[in-house]
Amino acid sequence: MRLAVKRHISFILVCLFFFNTSLLFAQRNVRFAAQTSSIERKIDSLLAKMTLAEKLGQLQQLDGEASGKYRPEHLELARNGLLGSTLNVRGAEQSNELQKIAVEQSRLKIPMLFAFDVIHGYRTMFPIPLGESASWDLASIEKSAHIAATEARSAGVHWTFAPMVDIARDPRWGRIAEGAGEDTFLGSQIAFARVRGFQGTDFSQSDRVMACAKHFAAYGAAEAGRDYNTTDMSERTLREIYFPPFKAAVDAGVGSFMTSFNSISGVPSTANPFLWKQILRDEWKSDALVVTDYTAVMELMKHGVALDEADAARLALNAGIDIEMVSRFVNKHGEQLVQNKKLSMATIDNAVREVLRTKFKLGLFEKPYADANRERAMLLNAEHRKFARQSANESFVLLKNERETLPIKKSIKEIAVVGFLAGDQRNMNGNWAGDGREQDAVTVFEGVKNKLGNSAKVKFASGCDAKCEDASGFDEAVKLAQNSDFTILTVGEDIDMSAEASSRTDIGLPGKQLELVKRIHQTGKSYAVVLMNGRPLTINWLAENSPAILETWFAGTEAGNAIADTLFGDANPSGKLPITFPRSVGQIPIYYNALPTGRPFEAENKYTSKYLDSPNTPLYPFGYGLSYTTFKVSNLQLSQSKISKTGELKVSVDVENTGKRAGAEVVQVYVRDFVASLSRPVKELKAFQRVSLKAGEKRKIELVLKAKDLGFYNTANQYVVEAGEFGLTVGTSSNDDGLKDTFTIVK
Ligand code: GLC
Repeated sequence: MRLAVKRHISFILVCLFFFNTSLLFAQRNVRFAAQTSSIERKIDSLLAKMTLAEKLGQLQQLDGEASGKYRPEHLELARNGLLGSTLNVRGAEQSNELQKIAVEQSRLKIPMLFAFDVIHGYRTMFPIPLGESASWDLASIEKSAHIAATEARSAGVHWTFAPMVDIARDPRWGRIAEGAGEDTFLGSQIAFARVRGFQGTDFSQSDRVMACAKHFAAYGAAEAGRDYNTTDMSERTLREIYFPPFKAAVDAGVGSFMTSFNSISGVPSTANPFLWKQILRDEWKSDALVVTDYTAVMELMKHGVALDEADAARLALNAGIDIEMVSRFVNKHGEQLVQNKKLSMATIDNAVREVLRTKFKLGLFEKPYADANRERAMLLNAEHRKFARQSANESFVLLKNERETLPIKKSIKEIAVVGFLAGDQRNMNGNWAGDGREQDAVTVFEGVKNKLGNSAKVKFASGCDAKCEDASGFDEAVKLAQNSDFTILTVGEDIDMSAEASSRTDIGLPGKQLELVKRIHQTGKSYAVVLMNGRPLTINWLAENSPAILETWFAGTEAGNAIADTLFGDANPSGKLPITFPRSVGQIPIYYNALPTGRPFEAENKYTSKYLDSPNTPLYPFGYGLSYTTFKVSNLQLSQSKISKTGELKVSVDVENTGKRAGAEVVQVYVRDFVASLSRPVKELKAFQRVSLKAGEKRKIELVLKAKDLGFYNTANQYVVEAGEFGLTVGTSSNDDGLKDTFTIVK
């Protein structure tokens, strides 16, 4: 009897729990719905009062000075309610000055929106996005975006033009530095993490900003790797390779999108209703605010699709964009377009609605001003600096380490730091360095001195500048290396050789840098190469001859301290390449998840897909990276050998640190759909897990594969999951033979 009563009571308690929870959810949803509808009501009432000029003003974004100062004309425009947003205006004091005019002196007191390119940090600089992506550490990537948002919001910035989520397979394209590399799955995971880091789940908070998924779409496929160039591809490829990171951003709640400069199969993105109406609004149900890229409306005339300025404005607004960045055609011609019935008031109202909704969601009507005291407390504080150092260490990829050249023993007495980049603060921060200040950055030279203190003599010789056209400094650098026990040789690119408008046809070491490396090598003294670069480089000679190579990208404010941590073993490199390093430009595009072709490579068969003058394999593959310790992955087990089209498969392996020091490994799961209605890639990354282990520690890890993630777009552009047998490889690089098994998706 007692047991029955107990059961009855516990059943009632469980029901009460679920009732309460669902009540809480219902209340939250009601509250959310109420809040949304109250915002909509406020928008309606504002719209009803706005003149056409004021509406068009909300669709205008102008740029402030590079210093963050607003321009004199902004004051008058703000006073008349004719400037909805700016980019670059930043700093609590400066942004408040302009905001006060808009909020306190304009007729309708609509606050302004301040945007800025906070790409990999605001004042505390983190590794460039391609470098940070090499960590495969989603939690760390989210945290660095959160820190960037905290600093930016304290400085009066509400909106960052990040993350850049363009998939890129062509390292000639300089903007490959700004994204997450070549892989759609990794890029989608990172896009989600970055948006969540910037926005959280409510970007009205004082430590959040609105994010911007850019550049929609396929900008990374610029023909010949030449920036701003055209792209041409099937809708299927768009949907399968280039769209998913943007969809991941939508799933993370991204508040805005930015158009891309390129045209897609002849249609410029900035006037492309397929992107903005069919995909973003109808299919993805996103109400993200859409801003053009810089003067992209004006560029519709150069693309040859707009007859004149008014035509360009009409095409852009009718395609579904909301804000025009920097060019002023919408403002200048909007009224005339409405009068000539080439543009409906409804279209303008929809765009204005998006802008006003964003300002309400950011809380700008309630809290339009930044707090200078908070700004002083947030910018480059010790906690942020410390995390920047950790983030930098995690971004480094150990490409080679023969005879345990690294880590360097701290007992060393004479150490040479050679190479211009090792002593240059500007290059440490990387490109798109936000409000980062050169004087805050720690160089490699300083980092090594900080590490060794007075225990060793640390000397520096630049050898040459980054362009390295003048070898007159080589002798001094070689002499220093000859008189030292070890040389840290830093080579690579200047930050101006990657990022926007920085495509290269030759992606080797610039100028005579390779000659400098060979001269240092010829001394016979021990050395390690530290690479600083914004793209893969064809460093074939180094890969063949240098004893150790550490890829450090551009690692941010704490670059020098982090590089010293890793070089001297206080950190153990764990990065994995998010992008393939080709042997030569002739191999481009080269990426790991290629299709098999009808004549896949056979070494002994001339008549298969190959080159006469190069292997097909890359210099370093996607997912590759070494460690100072060793790991063993074993005991692959699948939860089942068959799954339904809506099922999932659990993949478990044991990971053991078989070396003498703690470290982290990234276990990667690649699948292959052997036979389908379309040819499928030889392998595709579909799950990964970063695992940190002490020396000797062994751990079982479990990864989940969902059948729904193993589909593709068919020739009718529908996403399908097809039954059939799949191969599965679990390893620590895309070229790792790893542990293999198969499973089947059943009808
Ligand atoms: C630039 C870039 C874009 C950036 C914008 C504002 O041209 O293409 O990524 O956000 O202009 O600076």
